[in-house]
Amino acid sequence: MAVVNAKDMLLRATEGKYAVGAFNVTNIIQMAAVVEAAAEKNAPLIIQTSVTPTRLIGPGVLAAVYRELAEQAPIPIVLHLDHCTDLDLCKRCADTRYTNIMIDASKQIFEENVRQTKEVVDYCRGIGGITVEGELGTVTGVEDQVAVAEDEAALCDPDKAVQFVERTGVDILAPAIGTAHGIYRTPNPKLDFDRLEKISGLLNGDGPRIPLVIHGGTGLKPEVVKKLVALGGSKFNVSTDLKHALIDATFEYISAHREEYNPGKIDKAAQESVKRRIFYWIDLLGCEAKA
Ligand code: 13P
Repeated sequence: MAVVNAKDMLLRATEGKYAVGAFNVTNIIQMAAVVEAAAEKNAPLIIQTSVTPTRLIGPGVLAAVYRELAEQAPIPIVLHLDHCTDLDLCKRCADTRYTNIMIDASKQIFEENVRQTKEVVDYCRGIGGITVEGELGTVTGVEDQVAVAEDEAALCDPDKAVQFVERTGVDILAPAIGTAHGIYRTPNPKLDFDRLEKISGLLNGDGPRIPLVIHGGTGLKPEVVKKLVALGGSKFNVSTDLKHALIDATFEYISAHREEYNPGKIDKAAQESVKRRIFYWIDLLGCEAKA
């Protein structure tokens, strides 16, 4: 039913105080698994591709497979380019009709972040129907080609967030609040909940206006995830968890069937494992039956 962009889907989530799962996929098997799982839960869905798999498989191929899957699925689905620092790739993905583009200029100084984000916003407005996510402050850890060391971390300044939104026209904002990409080094990472609440109040206080994104979903405790959603996070990014599900299931299947040469069965095992993780996240984020 539904090739959609992220804005309306996330405004509804902000209003309803749930979050939509934004799941990074690295191949088409994983993309199909994520769609199947979300459809079974009747949940809205955001599929994300990081820069490396996007370049490897090709934006046109990914967008075509997405379109085919989304048009047949009974749920609304977004295709999002994740953490892209390359303006040309942002534009190529918009040309192939990704429906949400993240320009990540968060490591640049504020003025340059504004300039690059606005350039992508203007480009996507020119095409129409494509929304844009920007980031302010830096999320530590490694997400594909973007690596941010702990001593480079900068949390999002709430007043700057308002300026950033006004000056860029960005549709969706990822404010850095202390979450990190990859596996957390401590069971209780220090997150700045007050900062999220303040940003949420400034941008969504009089009613949903700019949906907020939580990066670094993997490894957060369920009660922490729920708190971040309650404080206004309406797009919830998960990547590392799904890489583990894919690789562990593949390894386990091959180890248990060393004499078998049937790639379809390996794919099936990986799909089932990824689906189980998507069910977990959809339950936790509260987006079941919100399609
Ligand atoms: P994790 O890999 O920590 O789940 O983070 C995902 C993410 O934020 C993608 O943008």
